[in-house]
Amino acid sequence: MDKQIISISILGVGARGGEAYGRYIYECKDKFKIISLCEPNEFRLEKYGEAFEVAEENRFLSEDEFFEKKRSDVLLIATLDRLHVRQAVKALDLGYDLVLEKPISDDADELRMLVEKAKANGRMVMVCHVLRYTTMIRKLKSLLDEGAIGKLISMDQTENVCFWHQAHSFVRGNWRNREETTPMIMQKCCHDMDLIQYFIDARCKSVASKGSLAYFKSENRPEGAADRCIDCKHRSDCKFSAYTIYLEQWKKDGCPEAIPYNLVTDVLPITEEALIKSLRESMYGRCVFACDNNVVDNQTVIMQFENGVTATFKMEGFTARGGRDFRFFGTEGEIELCEIEDRLVLRRYMEDPVVWKISELVDDLGGQGEGGHGGGDHRMIDSLYRIYFSDKLNASSSIECSVESHYMALASEKSRLEGGRLVDLTEYRK
Ligand SMILES: NC(=O)c1ccc[n+]([C@@H]2O[C@H](COP(=O)([O-])OP(=O)(O)OC[C@H]3O[C@@H](n4cnc5c(N)ncnc54)[C@H](O)[C@@H]3O)[C@@H](O)[C@H]2O)c1
Repeated sequence: MDKQIISISILGVGARGGEAYGRYIYECKDKFKIISLCEPNEFRLEKYGEAFEVAEENRFLSEDEFFEKKRSDVLLIATLDRLHVRQAVKALDLGYDLVLEKPISDDADELRMLVEKAKANGRMVMVCHVLRYTTMIRKLKSLLDEGAIGKLISMDQTENVCFWHQAHSFVRGNWRNREETTPMIMQKCCHDMDLIQYFIDARCKSVASKGSLAYFKSENRPEGAADRCIDCKHRSDCKFSAYTIYLEQWKKDGCPEAIPYNLVTDVLPITEEALIKSLRESMYGRCVFACDNNVVDNQTVIMQFENGVTATFKMEGFTARGGRDFRFFGTEGEIELCEIEDRLVLRRYMEDPVVWKISELVDDLGGQGEGGHGGGDHRMIDSLYRIYFSDKLNASSSIECSVESHYMALASEKSRLEGGRLVDLTEYRK
């Protein structure tokens, strides 16, 4: 029998739809065929239309035209946060199965409505909690599930955002302003919330949170700083200088066509001239103390789960390196994982520690997957194919699981805005 092929359309071919998933989906020709694209940016539509061999009549600049009919089995929605729900509703009405970028929404009513709609239509909504699909997270989960540290009592998790990433995405870039996007605890940390409830294997009961925009505001602007780093007298000594981060570092790195440089300019191959133009004109060239940002740069959450386990979570913008740290505390031992140091350690009481290199872990497909998020971007697409014809309503990152992490993020933000008071999650699950 011929192998079944899943036909896919992609809505929004930016960093995620075009690069992170689109290119890999296109490579997996024995599993997927990209049928159509919808993207209002003409340059990107043409670029990815050509790259993915999508027929010209199936490339749409207008969302309305794209949604005139169903065009494929699956629709991948990889547009910016505020469009997700509106587009998902249209897609479910047309009968698509969905792969939906996170965050879904920061409105609890919308979250509940979408879960109900997916259920009523019998459709898959796989949310892009790509970390669930990585070997690192699977290994942690299996150690916990097999009782390697006995009964889990509590856990700590830190998301080290990294100073330049904080400045790029949450001060200058797409996710700087909570009115235009979603609060940072939702945007950046709904993965973390998702992982915490996945590890603890219970619903979260209540949360309390503190956090603030501590540094990236006008009162911290150095004397005489220019609005754009390229014109600024502090450009060589400011740690957040766009001139240093995007131009000097690009040269030092050997002029790669990689993140973050390919997010700052659409010109390929990237040139010095194109980067300078972007530093003069785009949002990424702005002084970090003169942007229209209002999302936090640090936030801490404490959580209580229905099974009695407690967790603390820290999102920190002021870190030299990225990656996550985890610690799990159980009745027979503890587990520690430091992503950036490539180290996972199991310490059972009164036994020698067992140490793994994260980079050497192997999953049941015989590797880790290439691509972003420790292979998770590609492994999620592999998983989509594996479950689509057999168990598509039970994806590991189904919308039913995913909304729980969104409720945790919403409750955390509510707590933070209300001075850190305890917020009960029951109110979100009406
Ligand atoms: N799963 C993850 O780990 C992860 C990581 C980063 C970002 N994200 C999420 O992915 C989403 C996309 O982020 P990105 O970095 O690719 O952003 P991006 O800006 O690079 O891409 C979004 C694209 O959508 C296009 N677009 C705008 N309006 C549209 C419309 N009406 N119809 C179709 N396309 C439209 C834009 O022109 C752009 O090309 C965001 O919601 C973001 O939060 C998820």
